[in-house]
Amino acid sequence: MLEIFKAKMVKEISRTTSEDKISRQKVRLSLERIGFHELLHEEITNRLTLLEKGSKFNEYSRRIERGMENVLNLLERQYAEKYPEVVFLKKQRYDGSIAAILHDIGKSGPAEATSKEQDLIIKLFARENIRNSNMLVSEVIGEMFFENQLAETLETLEKYKIGEKTTMREFWDRHAQWTHDILEKYSQNLNAHVRMISGSHHIDRGINPYNLSDEVVVPLAANVIGTLEEYVETLEGRALIALDQYEAAIERGKLSHEMALSRVRSSMVKHKNDKLMNLVLGAIDELGENSTIFN
Ligand SMILES: [Fe+2]
Repeated sequence: MLEIFKAKMVKEISRTTSEDKISRQKVRLSLERIGFHELLHEEITNRLTLLEKGSKFNEYSRRIERGMENVLNLLERQYAEKYPEVVFLKKQRYDGSIAAILHDIGKSGPAEATSKEQDLIIKLFARENIRNSNMLVSEVIGEMFFENQLAETLETLEKYKIGEKTTMREFWDRHAQWTHDILEKYSQNLNAHVRMISGSHHIDRGINPYNLSDEVVVPLAANVIGTLEEYVETLEGRALIALDQYEAAIERGKLSHEMALSRVRSSMVKHKNDKLMNLVLGAIDELGENSTIFN
């Protein structure tokens, strides 16, 4: 009996090790693809590996990175003369690409979280079909875990100020701050510009860990990442939030480009008069319509 158990354990360990290896490799390749060959802090690569294994967020980030490249190319082609601010230096583009790959690292939890805690927080971020963003984290956890794990889970979250009354919306909104904290703590080979773009990608939702004032121009790359993230998540069904389960089942997690973009537009009403944001949305519209945005 013990032998069978041992054999099972060995099999399980080698399965996890090879999964870990593959995920680690994917993380490395996605950085190399954009020309990044520096050594990141081990904690950063460990977190990216956990995100790769336990969620689709790295995949989204890669799509966002490609989308950003396409959006910026289109803006430059169309508006370089009229609006010189859409033309980027190579270096700015490069920083934007690195930030696009790293921006959601905060979905692995606070900078102090242990890897076991990170695993748990990633699971909660990756939880799909949340019917209503005002649902309490404690309710969602209740659906995810059996009673014996529940107390421990709630205790872990409590440690990071996610209490019984925290809603899923509030929980989701923590991640940009956590991205800031993680990148600042483990900043090896990540310049200040990359960190600032990454941590400011939800500035449209008022999440502003770098305290950028209105007079400071928010880097367009940060806005493009934030906008594209919303677009990707909406498109991929993350914002199934607003749909009831019936519709979700019919849609099977896919929205049309038009639906996804109109949601993004309506969540960005406060940017209605922002010229650059409108250019970005226009470019997303044009590329999304031809389905070439993430190519
Ligand atoms: Fe995000």
